[in-house]
Amino acid sequence: MRHVWSAAALVLALGAAQVVAAEPVDIEQRIDRLLGQMTLDEKVGQLNQLSGKEFTGPATDKVRSMETEIRNGRVGSMLNIKGVADTRRLQALALQSRLKIPLLFGLDVIHGYQTVFPVPLGESASWDLEAIEESARIAAREAAASGIHWTFAPMVDVGRDPRWGRVMEGAGEDSYLGTRIAAARVRGFQGRQLGGVESVMATAKHFATYGAAIAGRDYNAVDMSDHLLHETYLPPFKAALDAGAATFMNAFNTLNGIPATGHEGLQRDILKGAWGFKGFVVSDWGSVREMVVHGYAKDLPDAAAKALVAGSDMDMESNAYASSLAAQVKAGTVPVALVDDAVRRVLRKKFELGLFDDPYRFSDPARERAALSDPRHRQAARRIAARSIVLLKNEKGALPLRRGLGTIAVIGPLADARRDLEGGWIVKSDAANLASLVDAVREQAGPGTRVSYAPGCDVACRDTAGFKAALEAAAKADAVVLAVGESWDMSGEAKSRADIGLPGRQGELFEALRAIGKTPVVVMMAGRPMIFENVAEQADAILYAWFPGSEGGRAIADVLFGAVNPSAKLPMSFPRSMGQLPISYQQYETGRPVRDLKNIVYKSAYIDAPNTPRYAFGHGLSYTKFAYSDLRLSAASMTPSGKLTLSFTLANTGPMAGAEVVQLYLRDPVASVVRPVKELKGFQRIELQPGQQRTVSFTIERDTLAFFNRKLEWTAEAGQFELMVGSASDDIRLRQTIVLDAP
Ligand code: NOJ
Repeated sequence: MRHVWSAAALVLALGAAQVVAAEPVDIEQRIDRLLGQMTLDEKVGQLNQLSGKEFTGPATDKVRSMETEIRNGRVGSMLNIKGVADTRRLQALALQSRLKIPLLFGLDVIHGYQTVFPVPLGESASWDLEAIEESARIAAREAAASGIHWTFAPMVDVGRDPRWGRVMEGAGEDSYLGTRIAAARVRGFQGRQLGGVESVMATAKHFATYGAAIAGRDYNAVDMSDHLLHETYLPPFKAALDAGAATFMNAFNTLNGIPATGHEGLQRDILKGAWGFKGFVVSDWGSVREMVVHGYAKDLPDAAAKALVAGSDMDMESNAYASSLAAQVKAGTVPVALVDDAVRRVLRKKFELGLFDDPYRFSDPARERAALSDPRHRQAARRIAARSIVLLKNEKGALPLRRGLGTIAVIGPLADARRDLEGGWIVKSDAANLASLVDAVREQAGPGTRVSYAPGCDVACRDTAGFKAALEAAAKADAVVLAVGESWDMSGEAKSRADIGLPGRQGELFEALRAIGKTPVVVMMAGRPMIFENVAEQADAILYAWFPGSEGGRAIADVLFGAVNPSAKLPMSFPRSMGQLPISYQQYETGRPVRDLKNIVYKSAYIDAPNTPRYAFGHGLSYTKFAYSDLRLSAASMTPSGKLTLSFTLANTGPMAGAEVVQLYLRDPVASVVRPVKELKGFQRIELQPGQQRTVSFTIERDTLAFFNRKLEWTAEAGQFELMVGSASDDIRLRQTIVLDAP
């Protein structure tokens, strides 16, 4: 494929705000010309990525030797460098190299650069694709102005085991929701085309199956059928690719005995072969070297050869390519054509970003100042955070809080937290500039209301000495808000938990409040679903706020006081017990399903717990009520090339304006491969005023009904299908059967 750009056309396409790479160029010809001039060492240099963390400290020997490597053209990309000053300084070194090939600067801009948005799992709970795209766009704008070309996001790994701390970074358990969110995030980061100075390259990671680590332990092995791989774990990657993801990152795990980094089937056959990916694959941090530890390569040179041959183009921090790839080529172990292909892929992105025309175009002090002080970014963070907060339970009219209360006590280890609001993966903490939940309640409670605060304990909550003061504050209050959950560093990479309950004795603080006759409104913060059975049973109201970001305190208060009506829905099932894990609504029917809870003998059940989760995928309440009625179909059957429309009426029958995320599920009751009891196939977020109603429609086509058959062909089999529409995977309001005719 040839990339011929016209700057004028691109400016038109992207809008005036996007200044794009100048000069009409034929990128492929320029790559050919450059590649023809490169020595083998210089080629390998383009595939070498180093961490620049040390560059921010004193000039050690290591820093000096890295500087020399850059000047010698032996480094293609740096990670962990940020800011105009540092990126310019290092780019200047690269421009002293013989061929003056600019560096690429990559960084983990996961849920915001300076403005912190909710952690990705939390943001996914909004089911609001525009909001998700907008947060990525703002993150890209801030990062790009600071010299960053490339973010290592989005993580599109499906996660069905909340023990795995990295569920925090993904879109949850569902493949379909994952595909839609993956595409939105890629669009947000990259804009409409690479080359805009307010965009960064996206990375679909971690290719593949990293989220299926056995027992939820990070980096653990994965063993998976081809069927599950194709049907559930690969589609979000394919969606990211279709949305234009410039790069992919491979993964730390083995898949069926082969490290993902050395997996030819994944990287060459599927990604670069069947899917036709033209970007490049970066390894995960040290994952080339770790193939030796896995027992898949005998030493670093062997690992370098195996990774490159398998399709891993750039080596992040293993120093395997830099130290041994050239020798492997000379020894004939690695064909130079494969090295050339990898280098082409990297150079292509540098050309597309416009770096050969202006290597400093992303590091712009004026743009950096403007982007990092734009008040609209914080406003968006507050709006998006409020849309991400899930109302899990609300009884006895506990929420929203009434205005004009005499005293509100805000209790709990997270009540005055700031750093924790920001969540796990931030570029730099801006905690000093945040309003905690107590601050925000004070801002919004109104002049006549006194707000008291007592933490009770810290997040670890091993010591209950502070309970007394908390109980005293609660005793005097007209309403009690209890903020509990994880600290920011309990979820994320290498943060697997064997027990995902409320940390320490936090649950006892809730019980102690109940014992003095106070039932608090519970606000929970975490990067994963937690288990909190006593609270779920006894609390009147629970808000799940995840780690909501820079404006998270205010966003929670917006929901507590009803300035925002909650509309978020869970992107992951919340289990009742650890023994239920892994868990997903998308189960397969057994031959012995439980139909009646009183009869579980010789049924697929636990004798000591229900099969159902505490809160199901798609669950989330509102302060208003929505009625679903009048389901109609444009036709009762369709041909394989046809379509039909399912419509129904959604009405806001409650007292407040609100938004409902309507969900479409499918069941294929009889097929050549057993199909799940329910699969999400569509959703829409609909805003309605009180009393307002609207017709909502979904189009059903062959792809809606298709699945991977035994031969892994994407097929739709003639017969009956059940369509279900509802407010959650366990709250189906309307059903209808349709027929797919034989071809
Ligand atoms: C390891 C993580 O798995 C990956 O997601 C991240 O992008 C790299 N480290 C770089 O920080």
